[in-house]
Amino acid sequence: MTSPVFTPRVFSGIQPSGGLTLGNYLGAIKRFVDMQDDAFETIYCMVDLHAITVWQDPADLRRNTRELCAGFIASGINPEKSILINQSQVPEHAQLAWIFNCVARMGWMQRMTQFKDKAGKNAQNASLGLFAYPALMAADILIYHATHVPVGEDQKQHLELTRDIATKFNHDFSVDFFPLTEPVIKGAATRVMSLRDGSKKMSKSDPSDASRINMTDDSDTIAKKIRKAKTDPDGLPSEAKGLEERPEARNLVNIYAALADQTVAEVLTEMGGKQFSEFKPILADLAVAKLSPISTEMARLVAEPDEIDRLLTAGAQQARDITAPILRQTYDIVGMIPPKHV
Ligand code: AMP
Ligand code: TRP
Repeated sequence: MTSPVFTPRVFSGIQPSGGLTLGNYLGAIKRFVDMQDDAFETIYCMVDLHAITVWQDPADLRRNTRELCAGFIASGINPEKSILINQSQVPEHAQLAWIFNCVARMGWMQRMTQFKDKAGKNAQNASLGLFAYPALMAADILIYHATHVPVGEDQKQHLELTRDIATKFNHDFSVDFFPLTEPVIKGAATRVMSLRDGSKKMSKSDPSDASRINMTDDSDTIAKKIRKAKTDPDGLPSEAKGLEERPEARNLVNIYAALADQTVAEVLTEMGGKQFSEFKPILADLAVAKLSPISTEMARLVAEPDEIDRLLTAGAQQARDITAPILRQTYDIVGMIPPKHV
C-alpha cells in the first residue's frame, strides 16, 4: 500500500480555564501566529471539553472561552487565514475521542505525568474525563489529519501518545489512515518559568500572582512584576553557557529573546555584562511594548461577545467540512453502518 500524502496542516488548542499567561503567549499563541503565515492550513481551538475535566463554573467557562478567543485574535490570529473554533461546537472531536478511548490502553494513560500532577494525591476522586484527556487531545489533532502541532514543552508526552494511538489504529485495522503528527516545540520560550521560582513552570494555577504575567495585566503591573522577579546577584553573561545553573537569570533572558524574536546568543551579545538592575527595566519596556497593545485589543473584543460568537459559529462550519468526512471514513474502517439517506 502506498502511504497517503497528508496536506501540511497545523492544529493546536488551549484550555479556556481562565487567565492567559505570558507562558501561553510565548510558548503557544505567538508561535500559532507565526505558523499561520507559513505554508500551512492552520486550525486553532478553545478546548472547552478539556477544561471541564476539572470543575468549571458555567458562567466563568463561557466568559473564559470568549476571552481566550479575544486573546487569539488580539495576538494576531486572523480568522480569514486560520480556522478558529470552540471544541464543543465541532462534535466530531468527541466522537473520534470515543473511538480512541477504545484504542488507547489503560497502561499508556497511567503513565501520563499531567494526569498525575492534576489528579494529585486523591487520584480516586479525579474525573474519568481527566484520565481520558489525552485520547480527546489525540482526537482533536487527528480528526483534521493534522501534521504539525505547536505546543509548549509540557505537552510533549501527550503528543507521543497521539502518535501511539495513530500507529495502533492504523495497525489494528491495516490502514494508513491517520498521520504521525510532528510536535513543534521550539524557540527560546518552550518552557517559561515562574518569576518567583526558576524551577517551576509559569502557570495560571500558581497561587502567587507575582509568579506570572497575565495577558490582561496593565503596564505598571507588568513592569512591577519584572522588577521584582527573582534573580541572582551576578550580572548577565556574554554566552549562553554562563546561564547554566542560573534558572531565574536564564528565564528572563529567554523571555527577552522570545519577545524580541532574537536568539539567546544575540541577546547576550548585546546585553552581556549588564547588571539585572539595568536589564530588568529594558525587559519591562519590551514586555509592555509587546503586550499592552494585545491587552487593549482583548478588552475591546470581549466587549463585543456577539461578534466573537459569530466568528466561532463560522469557524465551526469551516471545521466540519474537514472533520465530518474524516469521521465518516473512520466509522467505516471500524465497521459501523452509515445511515441511509433517502
Ligand atoms: P494550557 O493553558 O495548559 O491549556 O496550555 C496552552 C498552551 O500553552 C500549551 O501549548 C502549553 O504547552 C503552553 N504553555 C502553558 N504554560 C507554558 C509555559 N509556562 N511555558 C511555555 N508554554 C506554556
Ligand atoms: N492539552 C493541551 C494543554 O493543556 C491543550 C490541548 C487540547 C491541545 N487539545 C490539544 C494542544 C490539541 C494541542 C493540540 O495545553
